[in-house]
Amino acid sequence: MTKALDTSHLWMPFTANRQYKAKPRLMASASGMYYATDDGRKILDATAGLWCVNAGHCHPRIVEAVQKQVAIMDFAPTFQMGHAKAFEAATALAEMAPEGLNRIFFCNDGSEGVDTALKIALAYHRMRGDAGRTRLIGRERAYHGVGFGGIAVGGIAGNRKQFGPGLAADHLRHPLNIEKNAYSRGLPLHGAEIADELEQRLLALHDPSTVAAVIVEPLQGSTGVILPPKGYLEKIRAICDKHGILLIFDEVITGFGRLGTAFGADFFKVKPDMMVCAKGLTNATVPMGAVIVKQEIHDAFMDAAPADTIEFFHGYTYSGHPVAAAAAIATLEVYKEEQLFERAAEMSSYFEEAAHSLKGLPFVKDIRNLGLVCGIELEGITGKPGARAYDLFNKAFWYKGLLLRTTADVIALSPPLIINKAQVDEIFGSIADLLKAIK
Ligand SMILES: Cc1ncc(COP(=O)(O)O)c(C=O)c1O
Repeated sequence: MTKALDTSHLWMPFTANRQYKAKPRLMASASGMYYATDDGRKILDATAGLWCVNAGHCHPRIVEAVQKQVAIMDFAPTFQMGHAKAFEAATALAEMAPEGLNRIFFCNDGSEGVDTALKIALAYHRMRGDAGRTRLIGRERAYHGVGFGGIAVGGIAGNRKQFGPGLAADHLRHPLNIEKNAYSRGLPLHGAEIADELEQRLLALHDPSTVAAVIVEPLQGSTGVILPPKGYLEKIRAICDKHGILLIFDEVITGFGRLGTAFGADFFKVKPDMMVCAKGLTNATVPMGAVIVKQEIHDAFMDAAPADTIEFFHGYTYSGHPVAAAAAIATLEVYKEEQLFERAAEMSSYFEEAAHSLKGLPFVKDIRNLGLVCGIELEGITGKPGARAYDLFNKAFWYKGLLLRTTADVIALSPPLIINKAQVDEIFGSIADLLKAIK
């Protein structure tokens, strides 16, 4: 007889622990578009794990690179030491990034990436004699991970309220406007003027000379797929340029093909000063994050101090970990050789049609999509925010063999880029069945 699993010791992240442990949903293996559960059921992955397994699960090439590297050299420090794989991974990432963004600082995940980018911004201004620029600007409903920097610029009340005041940050309004933009296909047409509030409201209030950086997700994923209206990101870029403020794109979910291009910056044709990435960087095989920095910013650090001094007092034991670096190199090769970004771009119109076929089904309030991302917003149950979508997520797992992701009452879909048309049909067909069955 197999021993029952003891779930008591693990304090699970972002989970209703007691609810989960009353009936655990357990994954046991994964391959391509599918997980298999501990009881042997196949689960179609409509969320690429957690927006991260872009090349599909257990890609043989990435698995092999990791297995080889861990046997050759498990770890080597990158503080005053180095190893070839970290340098090669940085080169490969710089080659994929928009021109001029070519200096790479490695960390372990998106949260560390965000905190690293914010620190680079603060230090950069200080180093240039502009030490008054200490304020950071994010957006309402933004998710920038769980570090103290990330929660300060993030705009999710639940992620902030338990932890005190934190860093000096202010927030732009988010651009979601269902009244005007419901069922938008691709970029919403209305709302670019919200970007003007950066100048008219926040910079007028704080004075531009106190602001170090603005950070935005090109597409806000974690709080329910909020798309930038047409022209919005261009306006943010122009205002930052006008006032000497650095613009950081948090590309943790938009990086590596999610929108059919290498990065959101490529899709929107707006170039930030820094980009944070993680997740798809290693296809999530091994944790890794990175900040991709404009060369001028990096060079300012190099030029500010004598060559035998440390230029930036920041780093992680595992910055550029050899196994993560090997995974990143293999992953970036797979994206290129299998043309997965192009594939995502090609599949996106079929995905869009399938998504919008749910319009008119019970409790559907809005559907919004871009690339291989879709948000389906449901009417909530009065007094129980999130309960309707959670119920659907749970039933999808148990009765439909489908992994969804929900946030409040939005179903957020972000499948691996290898998805085929039959699997797209299966995802939306199963969601339609579940919606129709709601009593
Ligand atoms: C936009 C964005 N930034 C940062 C993060 C945090 O990344 P991590 O969970 O790897 O720390 C996430 C995670 O979902 C994210 O979506």
